[in-house]
Amino acid sequence: MKTWDELKEACSSCTKCELHKTRTNVVFGVGNSTAEVLFIGEGPGESEDLKGEPFVGRAGRLLDDMLKIIGLSRTENIFIANIVKCRPPGNRDPLNTERELCYEWLKAQIDILKPKIIVCLGRIAAAVLINSDFKITQDHGKWFDIDGINYMALYHPAALLRDPNKKPDTFVDLKELERKIRETCKRTL
Ligand code: URA
Repeated sequence: MKTWDELKEACSSCTKCELHKTRTNVVFGVGNSTAEVLFIGEGPGESEDLKGEPFVGRAGRLLDDMLKIIGLSRTENIFIANIVKCRPPGNRDPLNTERELCYEWLKAQIDILKPKIIVCLGRIAAAVLINSDFKITQDHGKWFDIDGINYMALYHPAALLRDPNKKPDTFVDLKELERKIRETCKRTL
């Protein structure tokens, strides 16, 4: 198995799908490479493509505020990645083939990190990782044990920006996440 740094280097020169032709940067992820908690979004947008870091636009600033409420930080105690690592042109949805090819990188990240908890940001990440017809309005904040890893989905921060009425539910979900981290993780909080 590759080390984390070897994986990052290999991923950074990936040409497995057409997205490599239009990307500026591969967005491998940000954070602590020994984190017990892994957050997973959908894919990079324009700002993320330019900076090579996930969640750096407006939704990213909201995500940082959400994390702070329960003592998490993208630079210290979690890792943040995406389902696809290169920006789909014009922010179109990634094609199934792009998702499938890119999943090999995410799977390798999960295998090396061995997180105790995976938090899916939004329906798309939850559909790929938890259940293909995941209902985010119904199933956000619930736990799913898959192969010994605890999965939960939160509303995507961009959805919270579009509909602030969802924020109280997300606050409850974050507090539940904090509880689970205290129960399950030794090094995070
Ligand atoms: N939305 C995502 O799902 N991921 C990012 O990195 C940025 C915005």
